[in-house]
Amino acid sequence: MTDLTSLETDLLAKVADAADEAALDGVRVAALGKKGAVSELLKTLGTMSPEARKEQGPLINGLRDRVQGAIQSRRETLAEAALTARLAAERIDVTLPVREGPETRGRIHPITQVMDEITAIFGDMGFSIAEGPDVETDELNFTALNFPEGHPAREMHDTFFLRPDRDGKRKLLRTHTSPVQVRTMRSVQPPIRVICPGRTYRHDSDQTHTPMFHQVEGLVIDRQANISHLKWILEEFCKAFFEVDSVKMRFRPSFFPFTEPSAEVDIQCSRKGGEIRFGEGDDWLEILGCGMVHPNVLRNCGLDPDTVQGFAWGMGIDRIAMLKYGMPDLRPFFEADVRWLEHYGFRPLDIPSLVGGLTG
Ligand code: DAH
Repeated sequence: MTDLTSLETDLLAKVADAADEAALDGVRVAALGKKGAVSELLKTLGTMSPEARKEQGPLINGLRDRVQGAIQSRRETLAEAALTARLAAERIDVTLPVREGPETRGRIHPITQVMDEITAIFGDMGFSIAEGPDVETDELNFTALNFPEGHPAREMHDTFFLRPDRDGKRKLLRTHTSPVQVRTMRSVQPPIRVICPGRTYRHDSDQTHTPMFHQVEGLVIDRQANISHLKWILEEFCKAFFEVDSVKMRFRPSFFPFTEPSAEVDIQCSRKGGEIRFGEGDDWLEILGCGMVHPNVLRNCGLDPDTVQGFAWGMGIDRIAMLKYGMPDLRPFFEADVRWLEHYGFRPLDIPSLVGGLTG
């Protein structure tokens, strides 16, 4: 009797202690398996006198039922705990943001960004955009712009020439955006206010020069356009573009065949600690060439220099992009390395505008 009670206590404790399915099965085999403790007791029933069996039978069977029941309920508890643990481990947080789409992962190239910024600024001043082809005639790239045949200024342009046409004329890759001035003056009547952004080509390659680069040309023609207008426009542009309240500019006399007088423009900057900042300091940085359109150019475009006049300027887009965004080397602009773009690129939906901010 005491034996049965202590066996039951022992078995139920083992069942309760079984930490997993395998341990529980071990307890089951030890109690109810062929040679298990309870099974052995059941076997003794056959050898007992009917009276003893009548008394022991319900006790031993009761023990078996309770142990079986305990094992069953322990199994359910373990299964439930295992399921809970698995659900916790495999839990997915559906509130996490989904993977970003191309409109947020993609990047706008700094050149495109800067062209959009330039367009926004000059668009606000009432300029329109003019474009011309990359493959130009010698006449438009040089002659009409008052570069006489054999003039040394032609040599300075390191021109890429194409093979001569059937008529012996060589086309070229435009060395500057200035031919678009000629195309514009020949096709629209003054007043003219245009900017001409685009690709330009010269045989040159180092840290700050690549064979293909970008320029933006500006042209204003009307009856009275003069240098003071030019200075105001360039100053407004630099303030807006470099996002500073004031800039000092310095106009240095220079020479271009298509302008008279001609100037190169420097803007004030500081270079403390190798970092260039605009609107402060006492260093100067050259950013563009400009001047009053030469009367010969006006005449070459069918305009009368006695009734109209104007000014023009030309600026390297890559150069001002490097200055504004602190990029030391021009060559990676054209290497299409996604890591570089990830770092220096701009978000596609942050479209530059004067009201919304140029750089988002
Ligand atoms: N075309 C010149 C260049 O590439 C830049 C330039 C200078 C353009 C003066 C102009 C200008 O329109 O007036 O070096």
